[in-house]
Amino acid sequence: MRLKGKVALVTGAARGIGRGIAMRFAEEGARVGILDLQAAACEAVVAEVRAAGGEAIALAADISQAAQVNPALAMLRERFGAIDVLVNNAAVMPAGAIHATSLDDFDRCLAVNLRGTFLVSRGVIPGMLALGNGSIIHIASVTGLLGLPGIAAYSMTKGALIALTRAMSTDYAARGIRVNSVSPGTIDSPMLHDFLAAQSDPDSLRQEFDRMHPIGRVGTISEVANVCLFLASDEASFVTGANYTVDGGISVKGEQPQD
Ligand SMILES: NC(=O)c1ccc[n+]([C@@H]2O[C@H](COP(=O)([O-])OP(=O)(O)OC[C@H]3O[C@@H](n4cnc5c(N)ncnc54)[C@H](O)[C@@H]3O)[C@@H](O)[C@H]2O)c1
Repeated sequence: MRLKGKVALVTGAARGIGRGIAMRFAEEGARVGILDLQAAACEAVVAEVRAAGGEAIALAADISQAAQVNPALAMLRERFGAIDVLVNNAAVMPAGAIHATSLDDFDRCLAVNLRGTFLVSRGVIPGMLALGNGSIIHIASVTGLLGLPGIAAYSMTKGALIALTRAMSTDYAARGIRVNSVSPGTIDSPMLHDFLAAQSDPDSLRQEFDRMHPIGRVGTISEVANVCLFLASDEASFVTGANYTVDGGISVKGEQPQD
């Protein structure tokens, strides 16, 4: 019960990593806001949390729209009270190098991954300042640290989230709000499955992803959720401004010798 008594908001929590973080937080006693574009899928996650004995509320909203974010935050506060923990997890990942990325895809990527993070954080922070306490976690990516081909706009936003972590941690460290980011490597998730399904040879690419990570496999959703749990909890009370890689060692690997 490492989050007992806390209220947490997880964006993009209807599936994948966000759903895993929300379920893990609920297991540890948090009351959780499940925010996502997909209303029915939010309700399904809430039902799963309740079936496991936890408490959650579905918040259907597009984080890129201020007019949808603010009512969702108000609904969460009205139901569970002040928000202690925010996980900015929702994101979209258009594929393509810059010359092959449409303006619409680029704008949507920045609107969700950055504007959305800004809008939700801006809505939550005044309440955390009033409490004098809070933990904010941005889900970034190793693509914000490394050059990986074919996902330029997405990588741009993930690098920005790591910079934002440093800026926000500096603004709020003395006022009780810790701000950290988590940068996963490749994680076995619906986003990965969608990406692989669009490729010509998904099976060999999946094996390549396993091989790229020095640990020898891609990561699991619970391996990301467990690091978020630590950062959300009071166990991380002296941790702020950090970017935790959860990447099987990919971000520190040098050139591998050929067999
Ligand atoms: N899966 C990976 O390998 C991987 C690796 C590194 C980082 N990440 C990051 O982890 C996070 C979660 O990834 P995932 O694999 O679970 O992705 P996913 O696509 O499975 O889930 C993303 C969720 O965000 C929601 N969402 C998208 N746009 C939204 C919006 N405008 N408003 C509200 N909700 C919205 C979607 O409906 C979906 O439920 C993302 O930030 C992603 O960039 C994932």
